[in-house]
Order: sequence, then structure tokens, then C-alpha cells
Amino acid sequence: MTPRKDLLTIESLSTEEIHAILDSATEMKAAFLRDGEQLPNLHGRSVLTLFYEPSTRTRSSFELAARRLGADVTTFTVATSSVVKGESVHDTIDTLMSMKVDYIIVRHKNSGIPAVIGRHCKAAVVNAGDGAHAHPSQAFLDAFTIREKYGTVAGKRIVIIGDILHSRVARSTSNILRRLGAEVAYMGPGPLVPPTAHTGIPRFTDWDAVFEWKPDVIYLLRVQNERIDTPFFPAADYHRSFGVTEERLQRIADLDLSIMHPGPVNRGVELCDAAMDYRNCLVCNQVQNGVVARMAILNHLTPATL
Ligand code: CP
Repeated sequence: MTPRKDLLTIESLSTEEIHAILDSATEMKAAFLRDGEQLPNLHGRSVLTLFYEPSTRTRSSFELAARRLGADVTTFTVATSSVVKGESVHDTIDTLMSMKVDYIIVRHKNSGIPAVIGRHCKAAVVNAGDGAHAHPSQAFLDAFTIREKYGTVAGKRIVIIGDILHSRVARSTSNILRRLGAEVAYMGPGPLVPPTAHTGIPRFTDWDAVFEWKPDVIYLLRVQNERIDTPFFPAADYHRSFGVTEERLQRIADLDLSIMHPGPVNRGVELCDAAMDYRNCLVCNQVQNGVVARMAILNHLTPATL
């Protein structure tokens, strides 16, 4: 396999690489579950997390993943950096590269910034979410979680529900799942779900159509109010029309379906409280698998600094 410097999108990966990273994540999980075990793979390397947008899961799990692989980790806090004095992305990266950084994990509100950084520097760059464009490490942890639950992704049916239009998760996760042989459908408010003619993905606008399609996994998304000028729905109306209400949860449980959500969850909007305690709610599995998927991603990349 040709060495890869950056991970920017799922689309840029070969299917062979996708399988290799998922298989490596399985090995990483065994090591991760042995408490405190540190692997030597990134010993002597430095990893920097550079988040221009907020994050709980992605940043902390990349940092844990890097430490489990023996790397030194630096958290670059944009809010208390010279970025607030007007320093450009290029100048920030040049400054950090002078400190011999090997891996940069970057999140930015503008699509394409991680690719610009990747072209500009020798460090391996991982896109940790850029605007509404891509979130490839989320896609890996989602695929890994489904494979772990069902033994395979191929042949499974996953319906992604919510604000598809503004979702980097929908784009990256649907891409990896389809590459692995799953069927994907979208459901949500009409203006927030792109037409099938543009995506090749079946598009529903109500729950009856979802249940009729017979999914294995119900994957909820957060409405990205920060990317919409005028919020679409009051929370209660959204929940009634598109959320997992207690009634819908009962139907989901009767059919033994799984529930997934990338987080952060807005309780009472996408999911009722009881959905978080449902036996097939995989949200915590996704979070834990985020560490091992990100260990596998870091292990797969080769910085040009080496
Ligand atoms: N799923 C996800 O990207 O979560 P964070 O925004 O907390 O990183």
C-alpha cells in the first residue's frame, strides 16, 4: 500500500485502505481494553490538536489515541492563542512546524482548510471536521461500531435522520458505509435533505417511510443551528416530527433496531431521554470506538517529517 501523509476525506481512500484501518482498529481495541497498555508505534513523535471549532469527543479521543501510541501531545487552544490577534492559518502552521510537529489534527469551520494545511506542511494532517464537508474519523468509528455490533457492515441498512444538508458526518459516514456494502437512506425535514438525484441515496421525509424501509440502524444527527441563518423548528416541533419519541422508541425496541448518534446529543430534540438508556443505543460504544479508530488512523499515516 502506498504510504499516505494526510487523511482528509473518506473519498480519497482506497477500499483496501479502509479495510486495513478497520482491521487495525480491531487490534488497537484489544490493546486499548488492556488497561494502561501503551503501544510504541508513535514513540518519539509529536501530535498537535488544532481546533478552531468546539469539540468534546473528537479532540479528547485523538489526544488519548496519540498517548496510547506513545506520542507527545500538545493541545493548541485557539481561543487563548495569537489567532485572536489576527495570526493567519499559514503563519500559525509555520510557527508550529518550527517546533517539529509530526501530526496535526485540525478542525475548522471552513471546508477545505485541512487540505490547505496538508499541502503547506510536512506534518501528517487529519481532518477532524471541516465545515459541512467531511469528518472522516467519525466515519471510521461509525463503521467500526456497526461492524462490531453485527459482525459486518455489508448488507446492513442504515437510515441517517436529521439535517443532512449541513452535516459533514452524513457525508463521510454514508460514504464509508456504502463503500463497505451497506445500504444508506436519508430522512429529515424536506429542505434539509438533498434530493436522491444528487446523492443516489433514497430520501424520506417521515417515519412511516423509515419503518417501511426496514433499517437495522437508526442514526440521528443534530440540527446544525450554527450553520443555519434562521433556525428551522422549535425543538418540541422537531422532536414530534423527526425525533425518537417514546412511542417511536417502543417500535424501535420491538424491531430490535440499533440507535446511533455522533454527539453531542440534544435530549428532547433528536432523542427522548429513554433512548439513551435503550439496550441497543450504541452512542457510548461509538465514543469508546472513537479512541481505537483514531489510534488506527494515526498509525496508518506517514508524515513527510520522517
Ligand atoms: N461527533 C463529534 O464530532 O463530536 P465533537 O464535536 O464533540 O468532537
